[in-house]
Amino acid sequence: MIAANILLLLICLFSVSGFQSFTVPHSKISSTSSLLATRGEVIKAAMALPLAILPLTASAAALPSSKPPVVLVLGASGRSGMSTIEACLKRSIPCTSATRTGSDPFKVVKLDKSYYTPYPSPVDVTDLSSLKAVIEAVKPTAIVYAASASKKGGNAQEVDYGGVKNVVEVLPKSTRLVLISALAVDRPDSQGYKMTNSMGGVVDGIMYQKLRGEDEVRKKVKDYVIIRPGVLVNGKDGGPVEIAQGDYLGGGLSRQELAELVVDAVEAPETDFTVEVYRKKTRTALQKEFEGQGSIIESGGSGKERFKGVVKDK
Ligand SMILES: NC(=O)c1ccc[n+]([C@@H]2O[C@H](COP(=O)([O-])OP(=O)(O)OC[C@H]3O[C@@H](n4cnc5c(N)ncnc54)[C@H](OP(=O)(O)O)[C@@H]3O)[C@@H](O)[C@H]2O)c1
Repeated sequence: MIAANILLLLICLFSVSGFQSFTVPHSKISSTSSLLATRGEVIKAAMALPLAILPLTASAAALPSSKPPVVLVLGASGRSGMSTIEACLKRSIPCTSATRTGSDPFKVVKLDKSYYTPYPSPVDVTDLSSLKAVIEAVKPTAIVYAASASKKGGNAQEVDYGGVKNVVEVLPKSTRLVLISALAVDRPDSQGYKMTNSMGGVVDGIMYQKLRGEDEVRKKVKDYVIIRPGVLVNGKDGGPVEIAQGDYLGGGLSRQELAELVVDAVEAPETDFTVEVYRKKTRTALQKEFEGQGSIIESGGSGKERFKGVVKDK
């Protein structure tokens, strides 16, 4: 029953993802709380702003360079991308947002931006030259890949696989790549995989393409972390988050919880591993026969130590 609910939620959320709604941090409540606005409302509000507050330049010099790491978020206008920027800023980690359109996702959002730089030009993950340009300008110590198929940005093959492949191609050797993927991509026989993979439209085949993207990273990147979240829900509090390996277990968590994990992965001493993440209380076997299987990491809360005990992929 729980598994069925999670599956249903997974399908609903994947189908909503990037199309109908857009979570924006609300400036007047707090920097981390959210409200649901339509994409049209956000764009209208952004367009109403005077040119004087359009994005700053993104030269490396504009970043507080004395405080590594420097995080570059690709697909930063997405809900997890924005949450990742917020999570970085909470820890005073310098970060740059890069978006497909080149517009600053935080233009209409009030938050402490001392460590934040919006990259002022479009960065389309399907376009190698735009990726090279932003990496050259920002010189990130870590890149977070938060892009995923969207109506205007490209389908799953182009974004969830092709975009990742492009990043792998231009990634500097000294830069860590944190890839946001999805759990169950390794389980083509699971119901979750089958249903999510066959939704049609731009997200058709998304599980297959995500696994191809992951494989590209595991094969070619020297310093990476692959985070496979479960169903992404709105709202912040949900009890402890669990980290698992092997793709046996799933569940749900919020984008804020995911973002904290992503930033922990940026800072973690461990590297080259793949993990599934979900709230402990939502833990469900991805297939009935997986009950009791799966290696669970007792993380003991957020922070860069939370991945202690993970097993490397290679
Ligand atoms: N939703 C779920 O329940 C769920 C579950 C497990 C895993 N995931 C995965 O978690 C990740 C984050 O999900 P989310 O729902 O927070 O993301 P999201 O809001 O859908 O954001 C995706 C972002 O990718 C951008 N993008 C699309 N094409 C691009 C391109 N060619 N170049 C650059 N950026 C591009 C989109 O920008 P535009 O809109 O401007 O095109 C959008 O900002 C995704 O990989 C998703 O598949 C989601």
